[in-house]
Amino acid sequence: MIRVSGLRKRFGANEILKGISFEVPPKTVLGVIGASGSGKSTLLRCLNGLETINDGAMECDNVRLEARISPADYRRRVKDLRLKVGTVFQHFHLFPHLSVLGNIIEAPVHVLRTPKKTAETEALQLLESVGLAGTANRYPGSLSGGEQQRVAIARALAMHPALLLLDEPTSALDPRRINSLRALLRTFVDRGHTMIIISHSMGFLGGVADNILFMEGGLVVEHGPTEEVLNSPKDPRTKDFLEQAD
Ligand SMILES: Nc1ncnc2c1ncn2[C@@H]1O[C@H](COP(=O)(O)OP(=O)(O)OP(=O)(O)O)[C@@H](O)[C@H]1O
Ligand SMILES: [Mg+2]
Repeated sequence: MIRVSGLRKRFGANEILKGISFEVPPKTVLGVIGASGSGKSTLLRCLNGLETINDGAMECDNVRLEARISPADYRRRVKDLRLKVGTVFQHFHLFPHLSVLGNIIEAPVHVLRTPKKTAETEALQLLESVGLAGTANRYPGSLSGGEQQRVAIARALAMHPALLLLDEPTSALDPRRINSLRALLRTFVDRGHTMIIISHSMGFLGGVADNILFMEGGLVVEHGPTEEVLNSPKDPRTKDFLEQAD
């Protein structure tokens, strides 16, 4: 279970997250929606330790990250958290100087100390499951955007994260690729992964998310089953937002 409680984040005097609380049950997908600037990416960056939270806490697989602990303690817990949380960034951030295989085995070998052969065997299986068998020796620069994204997903999954975070995974994909990404992510949920996905595409989230969380002004306005939030939102602000969405 992923638990976020009373999470606050400020940049200088500007409070971006104003007390966010929610839970994500295991083996489910939470879709996060909200207007540009509402704090979605900031929330994700707090959940993977890239931003330091100012108040509140998050728990993931027995790692608890909370505000108001010593900086040294916080750093230690972020280190633990990074073993539990995988992130697929919008621009993938693949290592350009490493082959596809090299990208995927990097963290398992250097962080988890997985033997290289074992990591390679698993990486090849992952590549096959993301539909990229045969690309192991290519370099990221020679792959299409959609292919690079699949490598980024395989790379994140190679660490066996308890939680996978994806920030706007559909922004660079054509409609056919969006459908296959949806199917791909669902197969990983069926295998036991838990995900939080930020997206501006309600069509995409409708088919992949179990629950939806709508943020506005750094607060959770509505959170519930996908079907309910997208089709019969309770809060007028959610209704308004959805009427403007695609
Ligand atoms: N490092 C930072 N320093 C100062 N302000 C920041 C920083 N990072 C984000 N912000 C501000 O926080 C607010 C929320 O940004 P965030 O990127 O989380 O929005 P978002 O919901 O992901 O938007 P989008 O849908 O456009 O990606 C914005 O006003 C942004 O300018
Ligand atoms: Mg964003």
